[in-house]
Amino acid sequence: METFREPTLDDGAGVWTLIKETGVLDLNSSYSYLMWCSVFSDTSVVVEADGQIVGFISGFIKPASPDKLFIWQVAVDGEQRGKGLASKMLHHILERDICENVRYVEATVSPSNTPSRKLFNGLARSLDTNIEVSDCFTAEDFPEEGHEDELMHLIGPFK
Ligand SMILES: CC(C)(COP(=O)(O)OP(=O)(O)OC[C@H]1O[C@@H](n2cnc3c(N)ncnc32)[C@H](O)[C@@H]1OP(=O)(O)O)[C@@H](O)C(=O)NCCC(=O)NCCS
Repeated sequence: METFREPTLDDGAGVWTLIKETGVLDLNSSYSYLMWCSVFSDTSVVVEADGQIVGFISGFIKPASPDKLFIWQVAVDGEQRGKGLASKMLHHILERDICENVRYVEATVSPSNTPSRKLFNGLARSLDTNIEVSDCFTAEDFPEEGHEDELMHLIGPFK
């Protein structure tokens, strides 16, 4: 049985391990996950199953656009994929009081990441709203070789 909840500082190490094990997400510093799990917990979520962190989303409400929830990293443990966990995590955050005035979700997605594209298209469908895709970060913006473009996906308005 899975539990969906706000992360706490104690989840930071488990989240770092989960992100590392995806093998495809940019692994940020362990410090950044400790910070995220304590400072941005009310717009982020973890899923816990049998004492393990099996799902995580880092999100924040954009300071200059308080009606936009930016979703940064989404990760589900390999064994738990395809069961709707990522979709449920997105809805879990959106249902919180802090998202009362949120009318849009933003996320960047690499063109080759089909599961991620389908996740955000599915979110737009379930919220009965539009999804608009535009350029965001290009491969040339990244300092290291081999990083794909990141396309902005704007979902909404849904209120
Ligand atoms: C992307 C990811 C978070 C999806 O998690 P998930 O819990 O398996 O997703 P869900 O079960 O909620 O499925 C969401 C949608 O994606 C589709 N999907 C999921 N895995 C898929 C796959 N491997 N291939 C194609 N479509 C897939 C589902 O069918 C669903 O679409 P639908 O609503 O049209 O049926 C997960 O695959 C993952 O952690 N990947 C590695 C990290 C990553 O790439 N993160 C996203 C970038 S931030």
